[in-house]
Amino acid sequence: MSNPYLSGMCAPVEQEVTANDLAFTGTIPPELEGRWLRNGPNPIGEVADPTKHHWFSGDGMVHGLRLQDGKAEWYRNRWVRADRVARALGEEPPAGPSFGDNRTDHGPNTNVGGFAGTTWAMVEGGGTPVELTYELDTIGRNDFSGTLPAAFSAHPKYDPSTGELHAMTYCWPDLIDHVKYVVVNGEGLVTKSVDIPVPDMPMIHDISITDRYAVIFDTSVTVNFDVMAKGINIPFGWNDDHPSRVGLLPRDGGTADDVIWCDINPCALFHPLNAYDDADGNVVIDFCRYEKMFSLDHLGPFGSDASPTLDRWTINPATRTVTEERIDDRGHEFPRHDPRVGLKEHRYGYTAEVVLGADMLHGSTFKTDYTTGTLTEHSYGEGRGGAEPVFIPKADSKAEDDGWLMVLVHDLNVTDGNGQPGAEIQILDANDLAEPAVATIPLPQHVPVGFHGNWVPDTSVAP
Ligand SMILES: [Fe+2]
Repeated sequence: MSNPYLSGMCAPVEQEVTANDLAFTGTIPPELEGRWLRNGPNPIGEVADPTKHHWFSGDGMVHGLRLQDGKAEWYRNRWVRADRVARALGEEPPAGPSFGDNRTDHGPNTNVGGFAGTTWAMVEGGGTPVELTYELDTIGRNDFSGTLPAAFSAHPKYDPSTGELHAMTYCWPDLIDHVKYVVVNGEGLVTKSVDIPVPDMPMIHDISITDRYAVIFDTSVTVNFDVMAKGINIPFGWNDDHPSRVGLLPRDGGTADDVIWCDINPCALFHPLNAYDDADGNVVIDFCRYEKMFSLDHLGPFGSDASPTLDRWTINPATRTVTEERIDDRGHEFPRHDPRVGLKEHRYGYTAEVVLGADMLHGSTFKTDYTTGTLTEHSYGEGRGGAEPVFIPKADSKAEDDGWLMVLVHDLNVTDGNGQPGAEIQILDANDLAEPAVATIPLPQHVPVGFHGNWVPDTSVAP
């Protein structure tokens, strides 16, 4: 059996590349001074048994593009060092602690961003965050200077009013009967940790926060012992016996006893778009919803289960009721928003189209206007698809959609020097999403379809 997560658009690259002064078309906004970064799985060397290889278990690799003065100064890709990568490259393994089963073996592969003046690669389920240099070389595992009590997450949420990161973390078998909510302050130290009993070891990939609550997404994907018995290295499966629910943990001194649990229809989710408290005291969460996950395909999310739709929950904490609403039934994933409206009511959301069963895992970039209910589409044309759209506010702008979108575009129409599909970065004007890109920067090599990243301006992490 071939593994679709190791071939085609997902096939790993085999080399670390540094390329300077990249050619491009159009105009790179000179205000963009910093790095576009993205993390994803890129197994090093031969995969021992592809039939048991879960997409989420590949060694982390960060791709970066540095922009300055309207030029594309460099592109780099670097494996995030962990024990397996270090062994393969003949290097010493990185120092620092880790948590959970087998998590020293592969480096964080899910997200990368800037916080507390440095660059972090992150993953859920036990892998300690790994600190990177500006040029993406590994410094080492960093458990927030010894303050992290257990696992971390690939999706901490930033609260601009406090400068803190908030994460919902899990880690089996270390945390077999609970998850941990952790808060990291602006200096990169964990200042708060709350244990929340949750049965069955669910996969909790992300968190939402509002001014009042931290949200626990306890849906119906849990550790599955049948999948584990097959030797699949990320053993999650759909669990009809684990009802889906959402928990609201009061941020102001809340403990596990204070969590407001609200039942929802069975579903799975990886990613909320944004969340906020509305004027009536409800919690509004926009997210990408899966009817099921890991029920047929145990190696990754895109095999046979339902395509993710764009949905909204409106949660009434007083009555513990949830109004569920379908916003759009096309395939939406990797939701992003203008960071200036984080935790506040947003008007716009940006998503990558998911096209199941095709060569590409992505298609168009969508902009959803939640006020008018309209959706604007940027199509990349035949054989091309845009990944996670990263929103960057324009300098001195105020309007919510006044920003740039940086999108990694995969291109089946061209091949790199190794015969793999091409890749480029497009910079789109979020105000005029349907218009052609303002700049297109071809990358020197294939970039496997992967996960998340961010724009890290030099004002956040200095060169
Ligand atoms: Fe994610």
